[in-house]
Amino acid sequence: MRSNLVAGNWKMCGDTASIEKLVAELKTSLPAEPGLDIAVFPPSVYLAQVLAGLSGSPVAVGNQNVCDQPGDGAFTGEVSASMLADIGCRYVIVGHSERRAIYAETSEQVAQKAKQVLEQGLVPLVCVGETETQRDDGATLEVISAQLKPIFSTLSVQQLQLIVVAYEPVWAIGTGKTASPSQAQEVHAFIRALFAKKDEHLAKGLRILYGGSVKAANAGELFAQADIDGGLVGGASLDAQEFSAICRAAE
Ligand code: G3P
Repeated sequence: MRSNLVAGNWKMCGDTASIEKLVAELKTSLPAEPGLDIAVFPPSVYLAQVLAGLSGSPVAVGNQNVCDQPGDGAFTGEVSASMLADIGCRYVIVGHSERRAIYAETSEQVAQKAKQVLEQGLVPLVCVGETETQRDDGATLEVISAQLKPIFSTLSVQQLQLIVVAYEPVWAIGTGKTASPSQAQEVHAFIRALFAKKDEHLAKGLRILYGGSVKAANAGELFAQADIDGGLVGGASLDAQEFSAICRAAE
């Protein structure tokens, strides 16, 4: 009942020439009629270029962040959800751990961002995840639960039905240290159980992606877990062949 989603987060990487090359390679290497949903998240200044390059392909495009305020106006440096909808984006990443850690985004702001995204008819990918110290302290599930609390209090059940959650343990991001399939499955099952407390049907349909050093070599065993519905891929999504192999592992 849940279709898998593989999302490529290009972070703050690339330039006009390298992105043109990556888009061209993705078009030839990805399956023409994929048995999953695929999305890429370029840096926002390259969104128009990537939207044009991928138009007519099955690959959706999203932004890596969004303003937490409703409407447009005097918010220097921000990009609104309505602008992203206007140019043809379908998804927005909210609450990535890099934004939480480097830009001090709170879980309340993340929930507001998810709300703005939903109100413009886009899909938020809500990221959660614990640091290495939190895991060592046995606080993983408590941290995830606290990060999701404002999501539950801010969004309606109808809105919760439309979101995607990405579990990205901070210690596995860009480190080459992937969570083992069973470590990831334990947290994914916990997240699904939290949603089930709100609504059983909602929990069954919720897509929960794993992120953190996903590559072609480990994607298959991660995606085989009962509660892992695809991946949010960083570094490996900058290589079209590697990203395509990860997508095929989720078909
Ligand atoms: O959002 C994706 C991410 O943070 C994981 O990055 O490079 O470990 O795949 P990476």
